[in-house]
Amino acid sequence: MSVHSDIKRITVPQLTAYKGQKKIVSLTSYIAPFARLLDEYMDMILVGDSTAMVGYNMEDTLSITVEQMAAHAKAVVRSTQRACIVVDMPFGSYQESPEQAFRNAAHMLSVSGADSVKIEGGAYLAETTRFLVDRGIPVLAHIGLMPQYMHTMGGFKAQGLGEEAAARIFDDALAQAQAGAWGIVIEGTAEALARRITHSVKVPTIGIGASPECDGQVLVTEDILNLSGPRIPKFAKQFADVQATIKQGVEAYATQVRDGSFPTLDNCFGVPKNG
Ligand code: KIV
Repeated sequence: MSVHSDIKRITVPQLTAYKGQKKIVSLTSYIAPFARLLDEYMDMILVGDSTAMVGYNMEDTLSITVEQMAAHAKAVVRSTQRACIVVDMPFGSYQESPEQAFRNAAHMLSVSGADSVKIEGGAYLAETTRFLVDRGIPVLAHIGLMPQYMHTMGGFKAQGLGEEAAARIFDDALAQAQAGAWGIVIEGTAEALARRITHSVKVPTIGIGASPECDGQVLVTEDILNLSGPRIPKFAKQFADVQATIKQGVEAYATQVRDGSFPTLDNCFGVPKNG
């Protein structure tokens, strides 16, 4: 008897082949309930280190660990069958050397079962990308606004607005594509630059605050469902108000527990049927 499902997961090479054919649709997920709901609609689910801020209420993304990210990615992989699962390598787990990156990325993929890692960094990390790809680890590069570099960037600021900065980010994209990254996330970057990169590299670009012309789009799920609290970036759009629905549900629960209308004997065990 086969233990394999008939549903095939979208692979990294398939996503690369979307370029010029169809858009890559992606959202983040860190936990099973969202992953289950997203799977049918997403080409790629990103287990982003944004969970540090969104899920753990930290000030930035720097403090999340490899083990935490691997646990989140494992939950998402176990709860999905279709979407390609990409997991963020956290701050400090890959910047030191290609060897360090390989050790941590291999651990991440083998523990979680995810399909690819994502690393933040441009030209200076191209050697690391090449090292990982040559050893069987697919890499999604992330350039432009890189939240892990918030201290050197002076905060979460749009990137590539001046000529020099734009030229540097353009080179980052070329270097990562040449090094074997299967795709490039462009975050918080001048629209014209993101568009130019998209039309200049052979691999798909996935925009977040970049350009409508990117080959795909990614957002933080909680941002589009009104679950992120007050910190919603300009580039997100609220597509539903899940906060209101949850509040309604928990308020009804609290009311019924307090007024004694929940639970009833129907919710209890060992109660005689006609008793
Ligand atoms: O961590 C994350 O969720 C990300 C996306 C915002 C691209 O890197």
